[in-house]
Formats: sequence, structure tokens, C-alpha cells
Amino acid sequence: MYAELLSRVVDDLVHGGPSVVVLAGHEDDPGPSALGLRLLGSVHRLVLQRRAAELAVYYPSVGGTWDVDGGWPAFRRLLAEQPDAVREWLDRPPQTNEVGRAGALVGGLLHLDDELRLPVRLFEIGASGGLNLLADRFCLVDATGSTHGDPAAAVLLEDAWRGRPLRPWPELRFVERVGCDLRPVDARSTEGRLTLTAYVWPDQPGRLDRLRNALDLAQREPYEVRRQGAADFADAIELCEGATTVLWHSVMWQYLCRDEQAAVSARIAALGEQATRKMPFVHLSLEPTRRTPGGPHEFLVVIESWPGEPTGGRRILGSSVGHGLPTTWA
Ligand SMILES: C[S@@+](CC[C@H](N)C(=O)[O-])C[C@H]1O[C@@H](n2cnc3c(N)ncnc32)[C@H](O)[C@@H]1O
Repeated sequence: MYAELLSRVVDDLVHGGPSVVVLAGHEDDPGPSALGLRLLGSVHRLVLQRRAAELAVYYPSVGGTWDVDGGWPAFRRLLAEQPDAVREWLDRPPQTNEVGRAGALVGGLLHLDDELRLPVRLFEIGASGGLNLLADRFCLVDATGSTHGDPAAAVLLEDAWRGRPLRPWPELRFVERVGCDLRPVDARSTEGRLTLTAYVWPDQPGRLDRLRNALDLAQREPYEVRRQGAADFADAIELCEGATTVLWHSVMWQYLCRDEQAAVSARIAALGEQATRKMPFVHLSLEPTRRTPGGPHEFLVVIESWPGEPTGGRRILGSSVGHGLPTTWA
């Protein structure tokens, strides 16, 4: 749907249509700023707000059916009739909080040995709306149909895992859930829910369902996302006896400058040195990573745990996909 829409937006730009006015001033925006997704997110938000009735007929996220022959003219008319409304969100970065990535992260925790399976204090950098801080409340189903978590859970992650079966950890609980983000989204507010929904592509019902169910859960379960950079947040983490302290993150490392990456890595190493059997520490990530310099980017699940022996060392556990489902364990 978005490929079809964006290719018509390009034609429209070339032929001097209404997108010229809407995108004025953004002609030289750099590619990674994802102008196309900012435009589409802004329009999706108008559809979700019921401010684009004609176009809504074509948006599956509100019960419509996508059809480019009808959808593109309706999209174009919206640009022509409400250019200022569309421009309102063009300066915002796309903000997503992908619930499916919890599949990779929870699966990573299931690789921990028994002595590290204490109650978990979870810390997340780049947590966005903090929805994955609630991952111990999700139910994950692997390719064979085996489940982890309460099958009646609000959030169900199907086809979460493939490959080697994981060792169950039914008692897995997060006794603390704290995240940080430079631009946190308040998932408990109407505005925050709208933001997170608008940037999910309207013809991806599975992602939209997972997000809606996690947003409902967020109304009921306690967690906190601080407005703070990753390095300052990591600096303040301390270990605690009787609990496994976990620092996890997904698809955020690329946004840190080199200095901040180095500062977070140094703090992780320092916490690792402080870790003991009574207060273990785990660093777990799902990030686009190259296995070898020059190799392709893969969404790898990587874990390191302390105290060092016998569990220590950085281990690639498996590879996932951008939205986290499925993860294939090595
Ligand atoms: C692509 S989103 C991923 C959000 C979430 N981790 C997920 O997987 O759904 C990246 C997040 O990193 C945040 N971010 C970028 N730079 C940051 C920094 N220096 N410190 C903390 N968060 C940062 C952004 O605001 C954004 O919410």
C-alpha cells in the first residue's frame, strides 16, 4: 500500500501536483530522516482522527479496503484540501514502539542458566513508549505451538521463535520496569497512543493488533519511561542482591553518537565487573549488526552475562527480523 502511494506521490511531485505545496521546504531533507514515512504517518493520523473520511474508506486500519485506483485520488485530494493539516506532523521523527521485538528479547532471557534466573529488574534504553517493559505479561508462541506465558494474556506474539526449542522459565517476572528515551511517548495518553498507531503501516493488521493490546495493558500495569539519554540513564543503574539486573535495548543503538555508545558500553563493562552470583547482570540486545566488517546487516540477538564464568562472554543467540517476529535461534 505504501509503495503504491509513495510512487504516486513522486509522480505528483514531478508533475507539480498538491504534494509540492505539502512538502515545500523539505526538498533537501536527508534520506534517513524518512520524509516519506513522516508524510504517510501524518496522513494516517488524520485518518485515525476521523479527519479524512473519504480516504478512510481505503485504510484497512479503520476497516477500509486498500485499492490504489480509488485510494490515490482520495489521498491526493486530501493533500490539496488540507495541506496545513498534513504539514503539522512533517517535522516529527517517525516514532514506533514495536511490540513484536519483545519476542526476541524475552527469548534471549530464556537462554539464561538457572543461577541467573532470579527475579528480573529490567532497564531499557531507547524505550519509546515503554511497551516492551511489559513483556513478562505477554504470551509468546513458538513455531511448534508451545507457549511461554499466560495463554490468556492480552498480548499474544505468534510464531515468535523458530529453531532450537528454549528452556521454559514460567516464573519469569519483572520486579522493576524502568526505561529511558530522549523523546518518550506517553503510551497512556490519547496523543501518545495516536502517535504510536499512526506510524504503523495501515495494512499490517497483526502489528496494529499487537500494539492496541499492549496499549491497553499499559493502562493497567506499572512502568516508567524517563526522559533521559541512554548514557545518563545507564550511569544511574546499580545492581541489587537477590535479583538479576537486565539492561536491554532494541533498534536504538544506531541513534547514539559514538561518544554515547562508548559511555554506555563502559558502564555495561563496569556493572559486569561488579556482578556476583547474588547480583548478576545481563546485557541483551536486538540490533541491526554485521557479523563481519562489510557483511550485511542482520537483526541479531546478542547476550552477555556476568559474573563471567561459566556463563560469560558475548554470544550471538539468533537472528530476527526488523519487527522481531520470528526469531530463529542458532
Ligand atoms: C526505532 S525506535 C525503537 C524504540 C523501541 N526500542 C522499539 O524497539 O520499539 C528508537 C528510539 O530510540 C530513542 N533514542 C534515540 N537516541 C537516544 C538516546 N541518545 N538516548 C535514549 N533514547 C534515544 C528514540 O527517541 C526512539 O524512541
